[in-house]
Parts: sequence; C-alpha cells; structure tokens
Amino acid sequence: MKRFAIKDYGAAKDVLIEIEAEPRLVDDTHVRVELKAFAINPYDIALRQGAMRDFRTLKFPYVLGNDGAGIVTEVGSEITHVKVGDEVIVHAVGGTYGEEVVVPGKKIVKKPAFMTWEAAAGAVTPWLTAYNLVTHLLGDKIGETVMVQGASGAVGSLLVQYLKAQGKTVLASASKRNEELVRQLGADQFAAYDVEDAGSFFADQADTVIDATKGGRAGEAGMQIMKAGGNFVALNDLPSDQKKTGNYLSFGPSEDYSDFEALTALTGLADKLQLTIAEVLPFTLASVIAGHEKLEGHPSAGKIIIKKVG
Ligand SMILES: NC(=O)c1ccc[n+]([C@@H]2O[C@H](COP(=O)([O-])OP(=O)(O)OC[C@H]3O[C@@H](n4cnc5c(N)ncnc54)[C@H](OP(=O)(O)O)[C@@H]3O)[C@@H](O)[C@H]2O)c1
Repeated sequence: MKRFAIKDYGAAKDVLIEIEAEPRLVDDTHVRVELKAFAINPYDIALRQGAMRDFRTLKFPYVLGNDGAGIVTEVGSEITHVKVGDEVIVHAVGGTYGEEVVVPGKKIVKKPAFMTWEAAAGAVTPWLTAYNLVTHLLGDKIGETVMVQGASGAVGSLLVQYLKAQGKTVLASASKRNEELVRQLGADQFAAYDVEDAGSFFADQADTVIDATKGGRAGEAGMQIMKAGGNFVALNDLPSDQKKTGNYLSFGPSEDYSDFEALTALTGLADKLQLTIAEVLPFTLASVIAGHEKLEGHPSAGKIIIKKVG
C-alpha cells in the first residue's frame, strides 16, 4: 500500500518520501477507507518543518494528512452508520497521504453523492475549525457583527458563509486579488489589507474578530477592529501586546468537539457551501512535494488536493 511520509523534519524535497506500508488491522470500532483524495493543509507544512516538535513527537517515517475522502472497504463489528462500498469523508490524526487509512468509525461520515472527492477532502479541517469555533468556542457570545480576517482562505471562506447562514453581519479582509471571491461568498463589507489599513477601516465595529490569516498576521488590525470588551479569536498565536480590553481566545482542536457532529453538519450544508479548489494534482510523490512547496509561499486562494484516478 503506497503512502507518502516524512523521514525527518526539513525541506519538502529532502524529507518527503514514498513508502510501501503494511495494511493495518481493523478492530471492532474502526473502518478501512480506500482514499480517493486527500488535502494538504498549512498544518502539514508546519509539522514537516518541525515547528510543532515541542508539542508533538513524531515517529519517522510519519505519514502526514488529516483530511481525506474515499470508499469504505472494511468495517469493525460495532460500526453501524457506514458499510462497505459507502463513499465517506474522513478526519484522521495523520495518515491520509496514501492509498488507504484506518480510522475510528466516529471520525467518518457518509459523503453526499453530489459532493466531489476534492471538495469532500478539502473541506474537512477548514470546516471542523469554522464549525467548532463558531458553535462551541463562541456560541452565544459571538454577537451580531463578526470580522473575518483571512476571509479568502479555506477556514475564512467557510467562516464567512457559515456566519452569513446564521444571519450575522460579516466584515472581511483579504488581499485585493481575492476581493470578488470574498464578496461573492456573502461578506457585507470588505477591506483589502494590502491596499488599505483594515484596522482603521473597520475600527471598533466587530463584536468578534477571528484572525484566520496564515500564521496569524493580522493581530494588530484585529484588535483595532474589535469593540472594547469583544472577542478576539486566533487560530495561531494570540497577539502578545493585548492593547484593548477583550476576551482573547485561542482556538485549537479539542477532545470536547465531536468530529461526527461537525462532519454531519457539513454534509447537511454542503450544497450551500462553496470551497475554492486551487489545484487538483495527481497521486504522486512529486505532487505532494509541489503542493507543500506552493503552500509555503502565498498561493492563489483555494485548497491543493491530491486525487487518485480510478
Ligand atoms: N488552530 C487550529 O485548529 C487551526 C485549524 C485550521 C487552520 N489553522 C491555521 O489557520 C490559518 C489559516 O488556515 P487556512 O487553511 O484557511 O489557510 P489558507 O487557505 O492558506 O488561507 C490563508 C489566509 O491568510 C491570508 N494571508 C496570507 N498572507 C497574509 C498576510 N501577510 N497578511 C494577511 N493575510 C494573509 C490569505 O489571504 P490572501 O491570500 O487573500 O492574501 C488567506 O485568506 C493557518 O495558519 C492554519 O495553520 C489553525
């Protein structure tokens, strides 16, 4: 079984390798999925570069990948919600960069037939993030006006759409080249951070500010945009100099959040949600390396997906 792994921390071309792995056994609570597509996330880049090594120790070769979609080929005796042959969406703790993955049953849901393999794989982590942040981290505290920084990104674009579906007023920022995309997603107002000062443009207007920029680059502007006493949520590090009174929250995955609940919500809304796919690359090591190298820069908006043919 072909999988793509890192043999060490380092540059994509130096450490990403193809390995032949033995299939894992499926116990009573797990499911085997033949993957049709997997997504490359900014988190994978950070993991490969060793940025997480103080919090997560990896055993090499380590197969990256949290997000995928494919067909169920084996189910444990306790699994009742999917059967062999079902098309599913998968969230794994590593391991989706390959031909198959074995995951706990509670980490998969059936994929709606209309959803493409690339959209299903691409939506997983961005949606889990948007959904859990809005529904569980903030809940009723979120307020009526929400600022999404990084609104053109995978997480940001789903946030804009999910918040609009809940009747919120959404202020948004991204680069000028992505203005049309963000407005079309439903943002009520837009500021291009690369041509104007988004912080001054929206000063003191948002009950909640969510910094969904890559690497958390918008803290200064975000604090300016938050109303005093509002919420500031970071997907990366919180600003060190918290100048304004507010509820500063760091979002991260948590055992308290149910993947099954969030992914079921995704399948319910999938026909209304738009996920931009930047590129679909073939299932090769060269594609995985190219995808990683592209994500290290500042690529066009959208997910990079690796897809198997047939
Ligand atoms: N804590 C968690 O659980 C969690 C979960 C998922 C993601 N994340 C993190 O959240 C971030 C976003 O993830 P994603 O998958 O949505 O990434 P993405 O699709 O690559 O989106 C990145 C966003 O950042 C913006 N951006 C890039 N450079 C910028 C700059 N210099 N100043 C301002 N904005 C900039 C982009 O806007 P333009 O292209 O329009 O410039 C885009 O909107 C990543 O850092 C990721 O690691 C954290």
